[in-house]
Amino acid sequence: MTDWNSISSLYNGIADTRLTTVFQFVRSLVVNLRAGSLLDFGCGDGRFGLMCAKDFQRVVNFDLAPSMLDEARRNAEGVSNISTVNSICECPDHSFDVVTMNAVWMCLATFSECLSVLRSIARVLHRDGLFVASFTHPCFRDEQFSTYRTDFNMDKYLSNGARFRSTIFDGRSSVTVEDTHWNLDAVTSQLSATGFVVLRVFELPDAPATSHALPQPSSMACPWLVIVARIA
Ligand SMILES: C[S@@+](CC[C@H](N)C(=O)[O-])C[C@H]1O[C@@H](n2cnc3c(N)ncnc32)[C@H](O)[C@@H]1O
Repeated sequence: MTDWNSISSLYNGIADTRLTTVFQFVRSLVVNLRAGSLLDFGCGDGRFGLMCAKDFQRVVNFDLAPSMLDEARRNAEGVSNISTVNSICECPDHSFDVVTMNAVWMCLATFSECLSVLRSIARVLHRDGLFVASFTHPCFRDEQFSTYRTDFNMDKYLSNGARFRSTIFDGRSSVTVEDTHWNLDAVTSQLSATGFVVLRVFELPDAPATSHALPQPSSMACPWLVIVARIA
């Protein structure tokens, strides 16, 4: 699987459309909730938490990869309401109004890892809190998008747990990671097995390429899917 420690600075240096379309959209879903606390699960370099720092009293970043957490800590230096935790176990039960999880689901290699992540999120979420997860759309993995493409064979759509490679690029640099396919059936059954109920599903269009070095987006396909869920 992908070693996020070794590629953290390369990955974090790529200006892919996740940073604009997905982060802006997810932020727009959570900023008007008048919620006090946000946990960004699998925060990477903490950029999403930084975008939301003014909208929440408390933002907590967590990532499994220590080098990602180090970057998140550095990026939030001087921002008094952002902190990091080294383990989700440090967070008390039902202590967050909102938990976000951007671009993490396809990094989870097994069904049981998905369940374990979702259970730990359910534990720390307030009973009336919101869970918002964005991930690459499983129905369009064979499309060429403006800042990512994969080698997924859509004949395997029903094969949950199938590995594939995703290449993320911005016209200047690129990185290839190993991802795992979870289709809509798997994602919703994992949510329901861990006590969540889905409120909304959003399918985001691709953003226009900002550089001549990038492919123009397909108008028919959606690179990102966003699920909003709460505890049942
Ligand atoms: C594609 S990156 C996305 C990072 C960040 N959310 C963003 O959008 O910039 C995936 C991140 O998920 C983290 N990750 C993978 N498995 C995880 C797990 N089981 N628990 C917490 N973080 C995990 C990786 O270390 C990596 O930082």
